[in-house]
Amino acid sequence: MEGWNPKVIVVGVDGSDPSIEAARAAGALAHCHSAKLIVVTVVRPPEGWWGIVGSPPTAEALGDSLSDAQRDVLDRTLRSVDLSGVEYETQEEIGEPSAQLIDVCKRVDADILVVGRRGAGLLRRMVVGSVANHVVHEAPCPVLVVP
Ligand SMILES: Nc1ncnc2c1ncn2[C@@H]1O[C@H](COP(=O)(O)OP(=O)(O)OP(=O)(O)O)[C@@H](O)[C@H]1O
Ligand SMILES: [Mg+2]
Repeated sequence: MEGWNPKVIVVGVDGSDPSIEAARAAGALAHCHSAKLIVVTVVRPPEGWWGIVGSPPTAEALGDSLSDAQRDVLDRTLRSVDLSGVEYETQEEIGEPSAQLIDVCKRVDADILVVGRRGAGLLRRMVVGSVANHVVHEAPCPVLVVP
């Protein structure tokens, strides 16, 4: 990793405070390295999609969850984090958060993935959230975990 100079940085955000801290760290890193920042939120499919008897979500239901994600997560994150001077884009994905984050990293050939140590999950039994834990195990690039 000598001379490591990230050009593409991916951060996963779920609206939680730790994910906002992750976005701050990712933004600062992008700024330092004049790297491109990709802010990703993953929407779990609407109820029933994966169910054996569940019918696929309508285009309307999917569109609704995506626009909720846009409003509740991405807009909130961008309001809370100063990204002036940073070249960034936002992405919304549908599916299982850790798998989708890893997919995005592969697709954009990310140099680093940044996540919070915890997220919006209500269970407090784990020290590290399941998404953070999975990406540390599976990511194709270095992972920065922000408390
Ligand atoms: N849906 C998501 N989209 C994008 N990034 C996410 C998503 N969920 C979690 N992350 C990223 O992973 C970090 C850790 O969240 P994680 O979901 O692992 O913890 P948790 O919500 O506390 O626990 P769990 O989800 O296992 O109950 C978040 O701070 C965020 O960076
Ligand atoms: Mg979570």
